[in-house]
Amino acid sequence: MVLIAPSILSADFSKLREEVIALEQAGADMLHIDVMDGHFVPNLTFGPKIVKTVRECTKLPLDVHLMVSNPDDMVPWFKEAGADILTVHAEVCPHLDKTLQTIKSLGMKAGVSLNPSTSEQVLEYVLDKLDQVLVMTVNPGFGGQTFMTEQVTKISHLREKRKENSYLIEVDGGINAMTAAECVAAGADILVAGTAVFAGGEYQNNIKLLR
Ligand code: DX5
Ligand code: ZN
Repeated sequence: MVLIAPSILSADFSKLREEVIALEQAGADMLHIDVMDGHFVPNLTFGPKIVKTVRECTKLPLDVHLMVSNPDDMVPWFKEAGADILTVHAEVCPHLDKTLQTIKSLGMKAGVSLNPSTSEQVLEYVLDKLDQVLVMTVNPGFGGQTFMTEQVTKISHLREKRKENSYLIEVDGGINAMTAAECVAAGADILVAGTAVFAGGEYQNNIKLLR
């Protein structure tokens, strides 16, 4: 069954603890935390302190998506904060193989994210080091954007490349009941969703609709 990773970017930050607990009770499989630096992407969100706060509120795996220009400098910060899965963008990792080794040596699962314009071919020589591949189905930076259908081909290509017991395929951006079905049919294992999970405050029902 597909795993659902609600993005806390859409949460009400004035009551973050309650939001995290509510997502756990609603059946979330992990929590997706979007770290943005205002440089790699045109938006600024939060850093390790919020990750640590979320860590203190839940036992769910924390899936941290680094949308920053210098992820290598920050890997240890997020280990310290309690991240379980750390995802970096291929576009800003000139030594991607080494970055993945560092993440794994610290005891976290390693993910690589691809912008819509980035080909999955950049992963060709690191496939065996990946725990997750995060396919962006919007240009990263904001919640509430429209799903880019052409990215479904990338999901299928990643499924074809995958050997047994290797990476999971995660999809992020514009996921709703309709686009979720399309992604799962193409091979997605994990769906990130912000807007669709938080809509109307019906977290449990919203999560169910994505499965
Ligand atoms: C966008 C972030 C997403 C975002 C998804 O750059 O990486 O995780 O929270 O939000 P929705 O589901 O609203 O597209
Ligand atoms: Zn994300």
